[in-house]
Amino acid sequence: MPEKKLYIETVGCQMNMLDSELVVASLRQRGYQIVKSAKEADTVLFNTCSVRQHAEDKIYSALGRLKHAKTHNPDKIIGVMGCMAQKDQELIFRRAPYVDLIVGPGQLHQVPDLIDEIQSGGGQKIEVSLDRAAGTRTDVAQSFESYDPLRDPAMRPTPYQAFVRIMIGCDKFCTYCIVPKVRGPEQSRDPEHIMSESRRLADEGCREITLLGQTVNSYRFRHESGVTTRLSDLLAQLHEIEGIDRIKFVTNFPKDMTPDLLSAVRDLPKVCQYLHVPAQSGSNDVLKRMKRGYTVEEYREMMAAIGETLPNAAVTSDFIVGFCGETKEDFQQTVDLVQECRFKNSFIFKYSTRPGTRGAELFEDDVPEETKRRRNNELLAIQNAISEEDNQPFLGQRVEILVEGPSKAAQKTDEGQTQLQLTGRTMCDRIVVFEGNRRQVGQILPVDIYDANSFTLFGQIVTQHVGTEVYSLA
Ligand code: 5AD
Ligand code: SF4
Repeated sequence: MPEKKLYIETVGCQMNMLDSELVVASLRQRGYQIVKSAKEADTVLFNTCSVRQHAEDKIYSALGRLKHAKTHNPDKIIGVMGCMAQKDQELIFRRAPYVDLIVGPGQLHQVPDLIDEIQSGGGQKIEVSLDRAAGTRTDVAQSFESYDPLRDPAMRPTPYQAFVRIMIGCDKFCTYCIVPKVRGPEQSRDPEHIMSESRRLADEGCREITLLGQTVNSYRFRHESGVTTRLSDLLAQLHEIEGIDRIKFVTNFPKDMTPDLLSAVRDLPKVCQYLHVPAQSGSNDVLKRMKRGYTVEEYREMMAAIGETLPNAAVTSDFIVGFCGETKEDFQQTVDLVQECRFKNSFIFKYSTRPGTRGAELFEDDVPEETKRRRNNELLAIQNAISEEDNQPFLGQRVEILVEGPSKAAQKTDEGQTQLQLTGRTMCDRIVVFEGNRRQVGQILPVDIYDANSFTLFGQIVTQHVGTEVYSLA
């Protein structure tokens, strides 16, 4: 079979990174190899995000840049997959008529066949799900069952870490968010399937799995027997898998942070004490307009419960600044919440109105861009100062890290060298940079921390002398 060349670009969340891995795995079975640029590829795929306008603009400009290449080489296949494909559908053909393929997030298992059909002269193809009301529940569930087990370690940051999908969709309908519309109804995956996929990953040498769901802690699978598996039950089952040393899960919904889950995180040593629980705002008026379903007092209670059960847990959050009607006072309440909760870090976003959401319908996007920008910077500066302060107690401490690979700087400069700057992560998701050896990638090693800033700890690998040999504790 002649080798076919695939270039894939992924934007957006971890769910998209996983989707891209799965699409690549399915295309590898048809003889595709990954190449580093769209120019040298026979097939160019974009896995897209619709959460903010900026992410969509990036894809439309990338498509614009390919127009010329397509004129030169009409056989080059250009595909748009994921959330923007689902949201914009035919509009993508209208804006970029040279696109061959549009595939929504629930139809990604069809990509290899669709490409084959286009190559056999089948013309442009579009596969997106009907809207939620039309009920594509079983289709979506079936599609991801037949599809998730195909994996491609080369597409992951390291072969030792993998995402495992435990849910699809979202039913929360926060008013600013396009996800429920493009990713469809919330459905939990059968724990048996999650277990067998995780066992396979462990057999292939994977040591860390991150369970994915838009609201991962809302996971509930009802068996025919009437028994329900919750996330806490699933964690206990996954904990038994030999070879898996670390288990993480993202993203959590504040209202579903139940005591059974916190106890499971406390009692299962392989489960990372790292919780990403977006607050979005510190103002009750804003939370209400966002339809988040909790008050800031309830969020504080949840933080107190986390603190009580897991005093050493790292908690991270997301915030949207400049949501419709956000006043100076509302923003100040968000600042107060950040200062009080002392998150390990926060992702802060300027509100971006999304056509098709309730927020876009009901409220005016009335906070000026300049104010959004200022609030974003202000909140970020406050969070960064907290992150830096909270990293200081690590100075002089020994931490255990999973070594992920060369640091960004080393990737640029040190090709081929064995001794180089590496990065790893602690159980609490803190990034550690240290001097090491390529062979240490994938090992779990002790490191002594000697410096820290907001985002990074700097350390030295702990070595032990045995006879005349020096080796790293594994
Ligand atoms: N504008 C800005 N940020 C958004 N997010 C979701 N929708 C929007 C939007 N319309 C943010 C939320 C969410 C994160 C993944 O993206 O903070 O938690
Ligand atoms: Fe979007 Fe809210 Fe669902 Fe998260 S919980 S994906 S913010 S609708």
